[in-house]
Amino acid sequence: MGKLDGKVAIVTGAARGHSEAVARRFAREGTAVAICDIVPVEALEAQVGSKIRQEGGRVICFQTDVSDEDQVNAMVEETLAQFGTIDILANVVGIAGPTKDVWDMSLAEWKQTLDVNLDSLFLCCKAVLPVMVENHYGKIINFSSATGKQPLSHRAPYATSKMGVIGFTRTLAADVGQHNINVNAICPGEHELRSLELAQGKAEYQGKPFDKNEFHQNYVQRRHSEKAVLAGRWRADEGFTDQSSGSEDAAALALYLASDDSASMTGQDINTSGGVMW
Ligand SMILES: NC(=O)c1ccc[n+]([C@@H]2O[C@H](COP(=O)([O-])OP(=O)(O)OC[C@H]3O[C@@H](n4cnc5c(N)ncnc54)[C@H](O)[C@@H]3O)[C@@H](O)[C@H]2O)c1
Repeated sequence: MGKLDGKVAIVTGAARGHSEAVARRFAREGTAVAICDIVPVEALEAQVGSKIRQEGGRVICFQTDVSDEDQVNAMVEETLAQFGTIDILANVVGIAGPTKDVWDMSLAEWKQTLDVNLDSLFLCCKAVLPVMVENHYGKIINFSSATGKQPLSHRAPYATSKMGVIGFTRTLAADVGQHNINVNAICPGEHELRSLELAQGKAEYQGKPFDKNEFHQNYVQRRHSEKAVLAGRWRADEGFTDQSSGSEDAAALALYLASDDSASMTGQDINTSGGVMW
């Protein structure tokens, strides 16, 4: 018997990464999952949908741009038509946005990051909440970031959007608690690949050379440096985890937040960031 037997979930941005892990874990625990991504539906089907079916799960795949209201509404309507209800919404989708100084950024770049990372939450929640209110039951899980709680230089739209995710989570939780709907946020931390993308993007923007090998060597050193410890990064040196932000950690927390085990938790923003304490 699965922890989410008989439930129906929508999971956004599911072609890879944290969202794929969340969708597969929900399905393994008995949830029928509607998954979407901006990639063509055939690719989503091949990359993730087929794996869920092989593992015995029920899945519908959608090509949906979650920043587009009509596309979000169409996905929700079709999910209701095929699965009958919606119990869980995992807003996992997120893009890094530009790596630049604010004065070099276009308004279009700023808006695109806010559209995908923040407007999508509003649109998806707006579309599913009438069903959840009617059912007097719902679990909403929003993906913020460690960057939702601290600045990230040269990524102002990303950091702003992730701080907004926490504000939206707390506020929506206050609004819908009376309807037995829980709203929480997960805040993954960095991992080496994403840190490399940021460092490389910053070097390209600043016209500086970038050496991947040197980055990887310094990454390990930086994580073990005294400065990192003072910043609250209690990791391998201190005997805590060295797994800073795996998708499976986030998926395990998402499962807990989607289940009735976490019935009394709402409006929270929880780190899966290897000891980063903000
Ligand atoms: N991986 C990390 O290091 C990390 C750290 C902190 C927070 N997060 C957050 O966790 C979430 C997942 O991160 P990830 O690294 O697994 O992401 P990822 O980049 O691996 O995957 C994001 C997915 O979203 C899809 N997508 C992009 N724009 C879309 C749109 N408009 N509509 C629908 N789908 C769209 C992409 O095609 C992709 O499949 C994000 O919200 C991210 O900000 C990740």
